[in-house]
Amino acid sequence: MLPLRLVTTVLFLVIGYSGATIYPRPSERDNDSDYWLKLGREEIEEALQRPKLTNVAKNVILFLGDGMGITVNTAGRIYKGQKQGQSGEEGYLVWDRFPNLGLLKTYNLDKQVSDSGATATAFLTGVKANYYTIGVNGHVKYEDCAASLKEENRVESIIEWAQEAEKDTGFVTTTKVTHATPAGSYAKTASRKWECDRKMVKYGPDAMKCKDIARQLVEDEPGKNIKVIMGGGRQEMGAPKRDNGDPSCRRIDGMNLVKDWIDHKTENDESYAYVTNTQELLAIDTSDTEYILGLFDDTHMPYETDRDTSSEGCPHIKEMVEVAIKRLSNSENGFFLLVEGGKIDKGLHLNSPKRAVEELVAFEEAVQQALKMVNMEETLVIVTADHSHVMSMNGYPPRGNDILGIVTESDDISDGLPYTTLTFANGHGFNYSWNGIEVVRPNLTGVDTTHKDYVSLAGMPTYYDSETHGGEDVAAFAIGPMAHLFHRVHEQSYVAHVMAYASCIGPYKDCPRQIENRPSAVYEIVKNQNKKHSKMGSSSSPAVWPSSIIVLLLTILSLRRARA
Ligand SMILES: *[C@@H]1O[C@H](CO)[C@@H](O)[C@H](O)[C@H]1NC(C)=O
Ligand SMILES: *[C@@H]1O[C@H](CO)[C@@H](O)[C@H](O)[C@H]1NC(C)=O
Ligand SMILES: *[C@@H]1O[C@H](CO)[C@@H](O)[C@H](O)[C@H]1NC(C)=O
Ligand SMILES: [Zn+2]
Repeated sequence: MLPLRLVTTVLFLVIGYSGATIYPRPSERDNDSDYWLKLGREEIEEALQRPKLTNVAKNVILFLGDGMGITVNTAGRIYKGQKQGQSGEEGYLVWDRFPNLGLLKTYNLDKQVSDSGATATAFLTGVKANYYTIGVNGHVKYEDCAASLKEENRVESIIEWAQEAEKDTGFVTTTKVTHATPAGSYAKTASRKWECDRKMVKYGPDAMKCKDIARQLVEDEPGKNIKVIMGGGRQEMGAPKRDNGDPSCRRIDGMNLVKDWIDHKTENDESYAYVTNTQELLAIDTSDTEYILGLFDDTHMPYETDRDTSSEGCPHIKEMVEVAIKRLSNSENGFFLLVEGGKIDKGLHLNSPKRAVEELVAFEEAVQQALKMVNMEETLVIVTADHSHVMSMNGYPPRGNDILGIVTESDDISDGLPYTTLTFANGHGFNYSWNGIEVVRPNLTGVDTTHKDYVSLAGMPTYYDSETHGGEDVAAFAIGPMAHLFHRVHEQSYVAHVMAYASCIGPYKDCPRQIENRPSAVYEIVKNQNKKHSKMGSSSSPAVWPSSIIVLLLTILSLRRARA
């Protein structure tokens, strides 16, 4: 957590910051109608080539950008392009070009705007839940331990279905391994806050009949059978602390769950690796390690902007994903992997757009990494979010304006002050004052709004670090077998159904299916697109590839398939 003083100091410690940067447009030709007509035609051809894979998905990877609403996605896309020196609007994130997408309604059973626990329950178990509950249905109210213990109220997750089908399972997160999203895959609890026993004692002996989330991970099904567990949260697991993480969830029962996890593997004569930094992670021999537990921080892992990138530090999310997929690919029956870019959400709660978009870009690298490693004809990849945030992209900034920068000219802003494109409907960045005549907001002239510690202006005050989630739909982008099942506005719980149906597990384990595979050049485009991003809009952009190349690729693909 950032000391407020630091934030304010950095905010005004600005020497010679020149204000708005305008990044150049990548295409010389985007004034010409020919360019747009050609681009449109190529996109029609791509749409006509959309794959329809109806085979059974051997593997499923669910990428969850925590808080990655559509506005965040757009800002992240522009930021990615601007990092490469271009205006950015014309580019794509890798999942922007997945052939299928749907929108998801994210409400919880008792809230219009959701939290990550109940939404994780929805997209991982297929059943919607109440705010702040995990792995239980709507009969369980927040903090009602007794109701959560009733068998009929507990719901199974995709991880349980996958394990039942003898697939290997895993999750990777940049938050604590006991945090809401990963917990949705293995825990059942009336409160997402019950990550360790200390958080439960104040609810009295009745609550203590329930098991904290960390213990569920190590002691119960399906947690103890998960082959790959990576993230932060040594403190919740009772492992010796290194730094000075939030002491509120230090275990009082004195258990060291990492030791218990290791003992359990040793007793069963299973190979395992427990790792706590990048070097150790990358040294794992994945061909000879059955179980991996990586705990890289006492609490959440650091922001990408603050990460110690040395070999002693925390790994990049891409490195975690690489090792996870290497290990899980050894599974004969395939695997299920959940990957959470968990700190996109945290950056937004801080009203810190820079942190959020940096996390998004790192998350995208992880998706790219995964696509390079899997056979996309047998792997369903979904990229989605649990909920949105209240960040908006506002004003009329010129094309290519630094997405984190300020806008100086506007006919519509009545106080004549510069503003940032990204602002928030609420948050601790609320900062209006009275000048004796009227309510005024800070004059941003000379302020480096692109700094990671810059706090954006918010319309309504919240406690520090408490900007709220947003309630509008989020997108689910999909590629691979049965990805076309995303096709309209869906309930968020539908995601679990698509994953289970695509892989014929859980509620869909008996699924006679016609094999009608139609892979397409779109796959190659998606796989190769990142290299091309910097040229997006120019003649080598995949969006404007001549159709002959697409046909050639299709032929190569079908030849390869015919041989196999
Ligand atoms: C496109 O048109 C604008 C005026 O709308 C002009 O300023 C710009 O230089 C033109 N770009 C090119 C590459 O011709
Ligand atoms: C609010 O803005 C004023 C300048 O108008 C600045 O001095 C102050 O530090 C800001 N407060 C916060 C919390 O950013
Ligand atoms: C904002 O600050 C700049 C630099 O101090 C100043 O030139 C400008 O007049 C201020 N704008 C308003 C509307 O007060
Ligand atoms: Zn959140």
